[in-house]
Amino acid sequence: MAYDLVIIGTGPGGYVCAVRAAQLGMKVAVVEKNATLGGTCLNVGCMPSKALLHASEMFEEAAHSFAKMGVNVSAPKLDLPAMMNFKQQGIDGNVKGVEFLMKKNKIDVLMGKGRILGAGKVEVTGSDGKAQVVETKNIVIATGSDIARLKGIEIDEKRIVSSTGALALEKVPGKLLIVGAGVIGLELGSVWHRLGAEVTVVEFLDRILPGMDGEVAKQFQRILEKQGFKFRLGAKVTAVDTSGKTLKASIEPAAGGAAEAIEADVVLVCIGRVPYTDGLGLKEAGVALDNRGRVQIDSHFATSVKGVYAIGDVVAGPMLAHKAEDEGVACAEILAGQAGHVNYDVIPGVVYTTPEVSSVGKTEEELKQAGIAYTSGKFPFTANGRSKVNQTTDGFVKILADAKTDRVLGVHIIGREAGEMIHEAAVLMEFGGSAEDLARTCHAHPTRSEAIKEAALAVGKRAIHM
Ligand code: FAD
Ligand code: NAI
Repeated sequence: MAYDLVIIGTGPGGYVCAVRAAQLGMKVAVVEKNATLGGTCLNVGCMPSKALLHASEMFEEAAHSFAKMGVNVSAPKLDLPAMMNFKQQGIDGNVKGVEFLMKKNKIDVLMGKGRILGAGKVEVTGSDGKAQVVETKNIVIATGSDIARLKGIEIDEKRIVSSTGALALEKVPGKLLIVGAGVIGLELGSVWHRLGAEVTVVEFLDRILPGMDGEVAKQFQRILEKQGFKFRLGAKVTAVDTSGKTLKASIEPAAGGAAEAIEADVVLVCIGRVPYTDGLGLKEAGVALDNRGRVQIDSHFATSVKGVYAIGDVVAGPMLAHKAEDEGVACAEILAGQAGHVNYDVIPGVVYTTPEVSSVGKTEEELKQAGIAYTSGKFPFTANGRSKVNQTTDGFVKILADAKTDRVLGVHIIGREAGEMIHEAAVLMEFGGSAEDLARTCHAHPTRSEAIKEAALAVGKRAIHM
């Protein structure tokens, strides 16, 4: 065998799995069909979106927040090509980082499209059409996901765009219509809204951010509306007329009813993502898929074919980079005979807007549905000293704890830096900690994290600053 492990796909699932396997002494190769390593996350996902979120936030702050702090600057001017260049530098730097990690860990990089010929055999076809077959003891499928499309609405990535096109628009759209009030819609909607677009979000359900805690989603919607977002909930886009200079989208109530037309310069379709298995040869190789087209795995990431494993967006679970990474590590450890494991109950989720939204563990809705008795402690940032002095008081921390044992079951934060703050809750939950544990942990003053301690105190009805 040429290799112990061949991994198809170099997103956060694939490249992290490769590094861990190499650390454990395996001879590893990765196969990548794109021109650059790093997958969706580095090239058209997490990284470019966070670069634009950061840059557009600075633009917005310079325009609206500096003066109140006594920092007088002239109105900022947008240089969109320079902002896109800033984004590209971020992508390039991270992609180079992955290339470095492959070299450092002596991982072979095979550029080309991978196809599984059967257990132990992967065909790699380069962009020149030349194919080679590599032999390996084990194969990991880490081919990620692709955008979900709306029937009858063709994405041209110019006027009707997916997240990929929305990360590379050449000018700020006057009117941006977003289909789907999920993570991508709210993050990329924030970018273009801050840069001057009028943003309307059409969402099929009667709420935004399905899956997040309902109370958090409600308050977040109010905050976004205050910022200028318009929401059309319980509605769907059924067609987009592209014949004129301006797009005309037909919108209908989700439950059916009369259609109305909404004009837009750009329509962003972000209604979720689907597993990507095109051309992998799974059917011929006998690798089973589930009823949603995801590669079916057991609790050890093993597929229906011996020696073939799968991780990341292409399998069930939240489509998140850190979930893919942790599965990559666990899968490599299992292949090395160790007890690799992912705790799916403690996977944080973050929406990188302003304010940010973060959560880990169960929502109130999930606890109610499971019939678990819980107590809730809530603390608003309006009562947090650091937030007050910075005048960034939107949001709150909510802690849900088991009514009998006080064990923390879920933590939900809406507020600036919520994405950084959530991890103390994740560590606590990983160790099965209680609200009392959190409440008795000394927190530095003045920090926004004190709101977590106060929310934990509030579980026992003894918050100090409220
Ligand atoms: P991917 O990153 O999709 O990588 C799969 C790789 O496999 C790709 O490089 C692909 O080219 C390659 N490939 C596929 N088929 C083949 C083949 N046959 N042969 C060779 N190579 C192949 N998640 C977060 O956690 N935080 C965020 O902030 C975040 N932001 C996002 C923003 C956007 C706009 C998008 C679209 C996604 C975002 N995500 C975010 C989700 C995140 O990008 C994915 O969860 C993550 O990339 C999944 O990793 P993966 O390794 O499973 O697959
Ligand atoms: P999503 O699943 O987060 O949201 C899609 C939204 O579209 C849902 O609210 C859904 O109800 C709605 N929808 C579905 N069909 C519709 C229709 N026909 N009309 C109107 N609304 C419709 O998916 P999204 O935003 O596309 O993101 C894809 C994936 O990328 C997510 O799984 C997410 O985890 C990941 N991601 C993560 C980020 C992060 O962690 N910060 C950032 C961006 C993406």
